[in-house]
Amino acid sequence: MIVLGIETSCDETAAAIVTGDRKILSNVVLSQLDEHRPYGGVVPEIAARAHLDHIDRLVSQAMQEAGIGFADLSGVAATGGPGLIGGVIVGVMTAKSIAAVHDLPFLAVNHLEGHALTARLTDDVAFPYLLLLVSGGHCQLLLVEGVGRYALLGSTIDDAVGEAFDKTAKMLGLPYPGGPSLEKAALQGDATRHDLPRPMLGRPGCDFSFSGLKTAVRHIAEALPRPLPQREQADLAASFQAAAAASLVNRCRNAMTALADSHPEVRTLVVAGGVASNQTIRAALTGLCADHSYSFVAPPVKLCTDNAAMIAWAGIERLRLGLTDGLDFAPRPRWPLDPDAISKQPRATARPRQTA
Ligand code: KG4
Ligand code: ZN
Repeated sequence: MIVLGIETSCDETAAAIVTGDRKILSNVVLSQLDEHRPYGGVVPEIAARAHLDHIDRLVSQAMQEAGIGFADLSGVAATGGPGLIGGVIVGVMTAKSIAAVHDLPFLAVNHLEGHALTARLTDDVAFPYLLLLVSGGHCQLLLVEGVGRYALLGSTIDDAVGEAFDKTAKMLGLPYPGGPSLEKAALQGDATRHDLPRPMLGRPGCDFSFSGLKTAVRHIAEALPRPLPQREQADLAASFQAAAAASLVNRCRNAMTALADSHPEVRTLVVAGGVASNQTIRAALTGLCADHSYSFVAPPVKLCTDNAAMIAWAGIERLRLGLTDGLDFAPRPRWPLDPDAISKQPRATARPRQTA
């Protein structure tokens, strides 16, 4: 089985070829950072146009690097949502066109399912597992029971953790994109310098909240001279990162405790999404898993941030189960992994990534 994956839901234009025996034959990602940098966030219209400009070339490049032709494909997968609608339309239309011309199955993949199943591509993780999905638009704990079978255990009541990293970085005057530059600044900082709140610590359940933490950083930053001296930037970044990591760990611990009763067969924690590339968060989760005799799986950084290999792989998982889509599939700007949880969900969990 060989599947072409296409990802265009935010600000990365990506194409990849992946095989059923878990080989990534090619994985091409074009970041639009330069286009969006002047605005300090992703501008949907600019993103959609950039996807359109580059997608054909990237698909050709992915095919060439993999050394295959369209006749070798078993299917074509594209992110069908959630995400910025203009970009999703570009990817879906490209995939549908290739599928129609070459008479191949088309697979509309939920972007979150792409992140959720990456650990099966990289580490062959078996179902069920606990998933911490942390990106710019999402912050959720899910029980992953199978392809298309997700139970939401908790999500954010305000900002996604990646969004909090991005906004805090902006507040500290760190360069765009915020998450990685905050992590870099924190390397030089003292995480114990500021005693920041640990959001939700001690509260039952698995929901998240990051706006209070962000506000606490703002109050400290506002009392300091501008532009912030490098030392202050670094100490605030390190203190913020430590508080965010502690909060994530606390929420995961609650999920593990709850699952010990209801689903004792769950013994693996998987972390996915852009924020999963953060080394402090990975280290904190490694420690938590050691305490609870859980295995910890964090895909390589390149496969945590948005990419098309995860879309191709989710396509393979769906194709195996016969879960193909018609060419009448309509892109979905919102698409929760656990639709049953919507009614019990706190507000605004499926918000698209911060836009300018
Ligand atoms: O999964 P992703 O690439 O795109 C979305 O689907 O949102 O995640 C992007 C998010 C951004 O908020 C970015 O700042 C954050 O992940 N991020 C990080 C790091 N690298 C990316 N946050 C903290 N530390 C990082 N090293
Ligand atoms: Zn993502």
